[in-house]
This record gives sequence, structure tokens and C-alpha cells, in this order.
Amino acid sequence: MYPDENRDLRKRAAPLDMSPEEFRRLGYTFVDKVVDLLAEIRSRPVTPGESPTSVRNALGDAPLPPEGFAAEDALARAWELLSAHSLLNGHPRFSGYVTSPAAPVGILGDLMAAAVNPNAGAWILSPMATEIESQTIRWIAEFLGYPADCGGLLVSGGNMANFIGFLAARRAKSARNIRAEGVEPGKLVAYVSTETHTWIHKAADLFGLGTNSIRWIPVDGKFRMRTDDLVSTIENDRAAGLIPFFLSGSAGTVSTGAVDPLEELAEIARRYDLWFHVDGAYGAPAAALPGASAHLKALSQADSLAVDPHKWLYAPLEAGCALVRDRRRLFDTFDYSPPYYRFDANEDEKPLNYYSYGPQNSRGFRALKVWLGLMTAGREGLIQMIGDDIALARTLFREIRNHPELEAFTQSLSITTFRYVPLGMSRDDPENTEYLNRLNQVLLDRLQAGGEAFLSNAVIKGRFALRSCIVNFRTTLTDVEQIPQIVLALGRQADAELRAGL
Ligand SMILES: Cc1ncc(COP(=O)(O)O)c(C=O)c1O
Repeated sequence: MYPDENRDLRKRAAPLDMSPEEFRRLGYTFVDKVVDLLAEIRSRPVTPGESPTSVRNALGDAPLPPEGFAAEDALARAWELLSAHSLLNGHPRFSGYVTSPAAPVGILGDLMAAAVNPNAGAWILSPMATEIESQTIRWIAEFLGYPADCGGLLVSGGNMANFIGFLAARRAKSARNIRAEGVEPGKLVAYVSTETHTWIHKAADLFGLGTNSIRWIPVDGKFRMRTDDLVSTIENDRAAGLIPFFLSGSAGTVSTGAVDPLEELAEIARRYDLWFHVDGAYGAPAAALPGASAHLKALSQADSLAVDPHKWLYAPLEAGCALVRDRRRLFDTFDYSPPYYRFDANEDEKPLNYYSYGPQNSRGFRALKVWLGLMTAGREGLIQMIGDDIALARTLFREIRNHPELEAFTQSLSITTFRYVPLGMSRDDPENTEYLNRLNQVLLDRLQAGGEAFLSNAVIKGRFALRSCIVNFRTTLTDVEQIPQIVLALGRQADAELRAGL
């Protein structure tokens, strides 16, 4: 029975503790396995393409073991399961979604962060970790051309980083004391383009406005927000007595990488006293490139900006980052200091307590892996990797455009969209749309299960498209040249089978 008063706690042996010798031995063994995986990643399938049932069966349904296993056996089992049954987003031919490989230095950073285990909620619990996070925020801002004296913090990813901007805006722009009284039903209105990522659904829903408060502004032929429609919608809402409060532009939309006319959006936000947010979760790092467009660079004018180190800064998951021009806005949104908090004791020098600047209380040391990546690559190294990704994406687009069986749709930043069209079939005949959509869906299912490469999808004006998003420092020209070949082989086979009614 526990607690057992008779146990000799002078010689405590905890099942989760580990002797230094054992830690050293298991650690070295584990590092060797990681090194082998990374060394052979190119020759492995991107994914085993198994069904959920077969993966669940591989894991088994054993109950919680009554007695623990040796750590060595548990680690060996975990590695065996993960290395055989995982999608490897660090594979050179993974260009689905917006997930980068984990920079090796970031992998080591996560180990170091867990070893020290600071709680980056309060400075006193994480002195150097908090300072490193603060420097990371400054470095990211400097890199993107955002004011380096901004506020900001690391969060779990793009959704959370966008939520931070949304919450700061909700607090700053609502007339009532929203923290005490909550939102006034049906009053606050947010403006985004129809191409905006689904984080906005969750934000409007979770933070009390409801999804009806979202105004979905149409896009132009290049998938950028139409500013004439934006202005007329704001005018109509104001005339109806509503409170326009939030305008979000995208610096790289999730489907096609389109960049909204951010300079114009900034001006419209100023004119109508809206909070100007930029979702740069994917594309913001491209603003650092020497040839970046004025529109992309205008993300510097945002009141808040979301950027994802686990996307185009190549940090291991999870690492998102929210930057807010005026740091006091974050404090006004998130600070609560109940009497049992004693984290401001130093009267001479107020410490930075991240619990006051974000929604979390206890916080891990996400910043370390990001800081290490920034420190290792430096500004020039980052520009080189991002620039190479874009150059490869453009090459892919050209290869596709030159091929009679492939139809290229869009190319922006490092995203390329296209589809397979069998020889002799008209691309423009609306009668073929349904068949081509079905054909490309079957093709993509097979491609994703096959393991040779991994792409994702987009819908381009009603047409189902294959989508490649290269945020991958392992991808080479050879990989990019293989993608059309893989798609063609699968497309021809799927077309033959669909026509034969198989
Ligand atoms: C433009 C954009 N915003 C937000 C997100 C959400 O990011 P996360 O998946 O890290 O929450 C994504 C994800 O791909 C994205 O591309």
C-alpha cells in the first residue's frame, strides 16, 4: 500500500531516474540511431503508406505495464516503431504541406532544452532561457525587417501565432472592457481573403465572435485580396453599425503562396482604424531575400505578425512565433498576476515574465532549437536556403509547363500547383473537369501512399491540383526533376484504370 511508511527513503531509488553510466550508454546508442536515419533518409521511402489499422496493430493494444520495462528496452521499442512507421518530412522528396525537415542542430537543441528543462513562463524559473527567447524574437524580427523592439513570444505553431495577433487586436480595438465583459454579440467584424488559412475559423469561434463575424473578401486572378471589395465591405459594415476591428493579410497563402497587397492593406487599416495583422506563418521569411517584393516587405507595417520557425526557418516541430509591434498590447491582453505569483520581486530590475505576454502559464524552452538554427545559419545562410527552395520551385514549374501531359497552374514563393491531363484530353473543356478532378485525386492518393515523393493538394478555381511546397534544405535539383516523372507514371496508370472502369 502507498504511501508505505516503512520504506527506507534515505536510499531512494526512483524507477524513472537513471544512473550516469546508463544515461551515457543509452544516449550514445540513440544518437547513433538518429545519425543512421539521417544518413540513409534519401534511400528510404518518404512514408510506409500504411493504413491506420496496420499501424495500430504494429503498436499493439497492451495495457499500461504493471511493472516498468528497462529504459533501454522501452527506447529500443519506440525507435523500432517510429523508424518503421513514420512519414519522414525530412526526406528530400517531401514537399507536401508546409513542414520543413528538422535542422539537426535543432534536434540537439531539443535534447538540451529538455535536459535543462527551464520553465520559460517566469524569468526566475528560466533566467537564461527567457533571455535566449527574447533574443530569438529580436533576431527573427530583424531578419524579417520587422521593428526589432517589438514584443513577441514563441508558441506552438501558426494557428497559435495568429491567435495571439487576433486576441491582441480584440483587446485593443473593442470599445468595452472585453476582458471583464466579454464580446458584444454580433458587433466585431474581421476581414480576411477567401484564401486565408482556417486558423481564422478557429479564432473567431474560440474567442467568442463566431464565424459569422468573418468577412471573406474575394481575390483577384493571382489569389490576392481585392482591396476595392475590402473597402466597400468595411464601409457597408460601418454603415450598419458594426465594429470593423481586424484585417489580416497573408504573406504566402497556404494553397498557392500568394502575397496579399500588404502595403495597400496597411493603408486601409490605418484609414479605418483596424488592427493590421499579417499571417506570414509560411512566407514571412522570404521578405528577407534581396529581391523580395515591396508588398512582401510591407509586413513590417503590421501591428502583429505570425511567422513559423517550424516552416521556413527549418526548426523541429513545434515552433511558431508571434510578433507584436507594441509589446504593451500583449501585456494588456494576457497579464494576470494573482497574489500567489511572486515573480516580480526584484524592484530594481523588472524581469521579463512570459506568462504576462501570452496564454500559457508553464512554458517549455522552444526558443533554443530556433536560436541554434538562426545562430548556425546566420542571415546569409537562411537567405541561401530559402532562395534555393524558391529556385527549385520555379524549376519545377518550368518543367511542368513544358510537359504536354502536365498543366501548370500557379507558382509563388516556393509553392507550385499543377495537374495531370492525359494526352488528347482538352484542359479547357468544362465537361472534363469532373473526370480530371477524380483522376488527380486518385493519382495523389497513390503518390502519397507510394513513398517515392510526397505532395499535397490545392483547389484552383474548382480544379483539383497537386501542390508542391519546398521548404526543405535537403531537396536537390535531382529530386525536383524526378517529381514530374513520378506523377506521369502514376497519372497514366490511374487514367488507364479509370477509363477501363477498374
Ligand atoms: C499561411 C498559414 N497560416 C497558418 C498555418 C497554420 O500553421 P500551424 O500548422 O503551424 O498551426 C499554416 C499551415 O500550413 C499556413 O500555411
